[in-house]
Parts: sequence; structure tokens; C-alpha cells
Amino acid sequence: MTRFLLTFMVVISTSGAFIQCVQAENSIKNADIAYGEYLAGECVTCHRSGAVNDGIPNISGMDAEAFVYILQSYRSKELENKVMQLVAGRLDDEQIASLAVYFASLSSE
Ligand code: HEC
Repeated sequence: MTRFLLTFMVVISTSGAFIQCVQAENSIKNADIAYGEYLAGECVTCHRSGAVNDGIPNISGMDAEAFVYILQSYRSKELENKVMQLVAGRLDDEQIASLAVYFASLSSE
């Protein structure tokens, strides 16, 4: 019984991640890179390109799907960081996707 339950739980949790992945992929299709660049003005006051500064990670060149997944996780408060929860809380899916394709298009250096 325990084994059955465990298998069941693993199936549920992996399919949850899968669904979130598919959602990330779908939203990227509606992304607008120019809109992303416009929205990024707020982000780059903290996230400067180049090396990590003051504990703020460099997000330029980040994979777009990973980017969407991370921002959605901040928005749903699955990821802990007050600042990023606040920032992501103000963004809708289209805005997150547009930011994702914009930052993914930048060089990581
Ligand atoms: C006030 C400063 C600040 C602003 C503004 C800000 N961020 Fe952040 N961001 C941070 C910090 C600090 C972290 C690291 C949080 C942590 O360690 O969990 C972070 C983490 C991230 C990460 C995860 C990076 C990684 O490698 O894990 C992404 C993606 C991100 N921010 C995107 C954005 C976007 C997009 C915007 C603009 C809409 C934005 N941030 C605005 C401070 C900021």
C-alpha cells in the first residue's frame, strides 16, 4: 500500500512539473521581444549584465523556458524572495514570456 501511494505521489508530482513546462512553452509563443525590452527597464536597475553583483544574479542569456518557470514560481511564492515575489506578482503571463525571450536574446557576458 505504501509503495502504491509513493508511486502515485511521484506520478502526480512529475506530471505537475510537466504541465508547468508545457505552460511555459505555450506562453513563450505569444512573447514579444520588443515589449520585453521595454519591460526590462525595471529589472536592469538590479540585474546588470556581467558578473554577479551584490548577490543579484545575472539573468542575461538565461534559457527562456527556465526564466518563465522561475518567474512563475516567484509569483506563486513557491520560490522565496520578497523582492522577486513582489516584482513577479505584478506581471502577467504575456509580460513574463516577453521578458524571457528578451533576456534570452542577450549575451550572458
Ligand atoms: C530590487 C532588485 C530587483 C529587481 C528590480 C528585480 N530583481 Fe530579479 N532578482 C533580484 C534578486 C536579489 C534575486 C535573487 C533572489 C534569490 O536569491 O532567490 C533575483 C532573482 C531573479 C531571477 C532568478 C535568477 C536565478 O539565476 O535564479 C530572475 C529570472 C529574475 N530575478 C528576473 C527579474 C526580472 C524579469 C525583473 C524585472 C521584471 C527583476 N528580476 C527585477 C533582485 C531584483
